Amino acid sequence: MRAVVQHGTGGPDVLQVEDRPEPTREPGEVLVRTEAIAVPFYETQLRSGLIPAGPPSIFGHEAAGIVLEADDPNLRGRRVVTMSYTGGAYAEVVAASQYTLVPGDLTPEVAVAAAVPASVALTLMTAADVKEGETVLVEAASGAIGGYLARLAERKGARVVTTAGKGKADIDHNDPDWRQKVPEGIDVVFESIGGPRAAELTPKLAPFGRILAYGMLSGDFPAFPVAGLLARGLTLIGFGGPDAYGKRIAAVRAEALGLVADGTLTPVLDRTYPLADVAAAHARVESREGVGKVVLVP
Ligand SMILES: NC(=O)c1ccc[n+]([C@@H]2O[C@H](COP(=O)([O-])OP(=O)(O)OC[C@H]3O[C@@H](n4cnc5c(N)ncnc54)[C@H](OP(=O)(O)O)[C@@H]3O)[C@@H](O)[C@H]2O)c1
Repeated sequence: MRAVVQHGTGGPDVLQVEDRPEPTREPGEVLVRTEAIAVPFYETQLRSGLIPAGPPSIFGHEAAGIVLEADDPNLRGRRVVTMSYTGGAYAEVVAASQYTLVPGDLTPEVAVAAAVPASVALTLMTAADVKEGETVLVEAASGAIGGYLARLAERKGARVVTTAGKGKADIDHNDPDWRQKVPEGIDVVFESIGGPRAAELTPKLAPFGRILAYGMLSGDFPAFPVAGLLARGLTLIGFGGPDAYGKRIAAVRAEALGLVADGTLTPVLDRTYPLADVAAAHARVESREGVGKVVLVP
C-alpha cells in the first residue's frame, strides 16, 4: 500500500510517500481502507519537531474509510472514522482501536473533518460547564475545535467573543496586543494559543472564571502564574492527554457525528489533496491562508 512516512523532523518535505506492507489488526481493532484523512494543525507541529514524537513511522492520526475486517463481521463494508494516538492514518489501509460508525450519508471528507475536533469541543464544553448568560472567549475560532466551541456555546445561550486571523473573527489574534481588546467579565476562556503572554487574560476574567488550556498553537504552552489565578478565584483546567480526557473525548464521538448529521454543527472544508501531495497539504495548513479543514484523499 502507499503510505506517508516521516524522515526526521523539519519542513513538509520530510513526509514522503512510500510502499509499505498493509497493517494487520489486533483483536478489538478494525482494519479500514481509507477514503479521507484529516490534517489537523498539531500534526504540522509534530512533523516540524515542535511537539516531540517517537521513532519514524507511518504518519497521521485521523481517517475515515470502509471496514475491511473487524471482530464483528457486521461491521464489514460500513463507513467509520478512526483515531489512533500512535499514528498510521496517512495510508491506504489503517488498523485502529478507536472507531465510530459514520451516520447517515455524511461523506468521508466531512466525517473525518468533524469527528475528532467536534468530540474535543463537546468534551471541553462539559469540562467548562458553560451556562446560559455567561460570556465565553473562544481563541482560534477559525479552526475546527474553535469553530465548534463557538457554535456549542451559542447554543447554550452564552455570549461568545472569538479570535482568529484578520477579518475572520471579533479580535485579530495576530496583533501581539490582542488580549488588551478582550472585554472584561469573561466567565470561560477556551485557551488554545498559549505562550508567555496568556496571563494577560487573567484580569479580563470575571471572579471564579474558568480557563481551559488545551493547545499551544503559538508553539508554547500558556504561562499562568498562580498569583493571578488566586487573586480572582480562577480555575485553570489542563485539558488533554490520551490517559485523561482522551477517553471522554472518544466516548462522545458518535454524539459529535450525530450533531453533524442533524445539521447542528457544520464542518468547514478548506481543500482536499491527493495523498501524493501531502507536503503541499501541510504547507497549506501552515500558511493559515484558508479557513476549514485540509483533507488528504488516498
Ligand atoms: N487537548 C486536546 O485534547 C486536543 C485535541 C486536539 C487538538 N488540540 C489542540 O487544539 C488546537 C486547535 O486544533 P484544531 O484542530 O482546531 O486546529 P485547526 O482546525 O487545524 O486550525 C488551526 C487554527 O490555528 C490557528 N493558528 C495557527 N497558528 C496560530 C498561531 N501562531 N497563533 C494563533 N492561532 C494560530 C488558526 O487561526 P488563523 O489561521 O485564523 O490565524 C486556526 O484557527 C491545537 O493547538 C491542537 O493541538 C488539543
